[in-house]
Amino acid sequence: MMKEIDWSKLGFHYTEPDYIVRAAYHDGAWEEPYATKDKFLHLHVSATCLQYGQEAFEGLKAFRGIDGKIRIFRWRENAKRMQRSAEGLYMQPVPEELFGKAIRLALEKNLDFVPPYGTGATLYFRPLLIGTTPRLGVGPGRDFEFIVIPSPIGPYYPGKFHCTTFIVNRYVDRAAPFGTGQFKVGGNYAASFRATEAAHAMGCDCIFLDAKQHKFIDECSAANFIGIKKPSAVSCQPSEIEYLTPKSSAILPSITNNSLMTLARERGMKVTQRRIRLEELEQMSEAAACGTACVISPIDKVIDTEKGKTYSFGDEPGPVLSQLYHALKDIQYGRAEDTHHWCDVFDI
Ligand SMILES: Cc1ncc(COP(=O)(O)O)c(C=O)c1O
Repeated sequence: MMKEIDWSKLGFHYTEPDYIVRAAYHDGAWEEPYATKDKFLHLHVSATCLQYGQEAFEGLKAFRGIDGKIRIFRWRENAKRMQRSAEGLYMQPVPEELFGKAIRLALEKNLDFVPPYGTGATLYFRPLLIGTTPRLGVGPGRDFEFIVIPSPIGPYYPGKFHCTTFIVNRYVDRAAPFGTGQFKVGGNYAASFRATEAAHAMGCDCIFLDAKQHKFIDECSAANFIGIKKPSAVSCQPSEIEYLTPKSSAILPSITNNSLMTLARERGMKVTQRRIRLEELEQMSEAAACGTACVISPIDKVIDTEKGKTYSFGDEPGPVLSQLYHALKDIQYGRAEDTHHWCDVFDI
């Protein structure tokens, strides 16, 4: 029976699902994933996730499509990224097959929480990997727990697709070059809270610069950055449009960004991944953050308070990023052909 939930009012908040899915790694082997209603862990106080931050997570969504079928978007990419995060923190990687089984089980056991088509709400999955070995001496553990927490979340844009203002942060470094920024691990987020909460208090989001020189754009809060360069003429050829996104060893390789780059190339745009100086914003006609939560979050202004400079991109989302936003959402909701086989489709 469909849950009595006002899907449009959910926001990005945790709604208790019926089941979570768990699988432990002990004595060199993973157990079969199983569904449980118990949302609490019996965890040793000296577990390596608590003592030394052995923790990694992921985020992906299931969409109820226009045809009533459920689509899970590119979960294999999330599985691979979690394996890289695990290796980065010296944890046992979760095999792709186990990851997929656990996501499927979490979906099947919580079907009533998949929001209907047209609400803009989705079923979000939060896969989590933690070190559970008790240790006092500094070092990695050898026992792990993999958990998938599903939760329905509301539409990112309950009203219309709109812009957000970003503030350049220079006083908190989120992640060092060749550090853990390229992995999806809790420590990166804790390290960013001081800067993001200060930006939120001003009604804005925050742009992180590279930690070494504070010259190049790294990331936008918990999302990748995209900039669009094109000739000033209102109409131009796709080949004259450049999709720019930062190349940095300190940023998370976004699956959304990767998908948008593919769609941009397909439409004939030039896609460039390289270091981007903050001042280059001056030459961009559109800018945005991108990630699973929002797909694209267009930017109206980037404010650099320290340098007394504001970069403006217009109050409304620009045409290039709007086109890519709708193209990706159409694939996720089954309104456009999924030529890249990005979605696993479930007729359940
Ligand atoms: C730091 C950071 N960068 C980028 C992203 C976007 O990645 P994805 O598109 O895979 O959600 C996320 C969200 O997962 C993130 O937390």
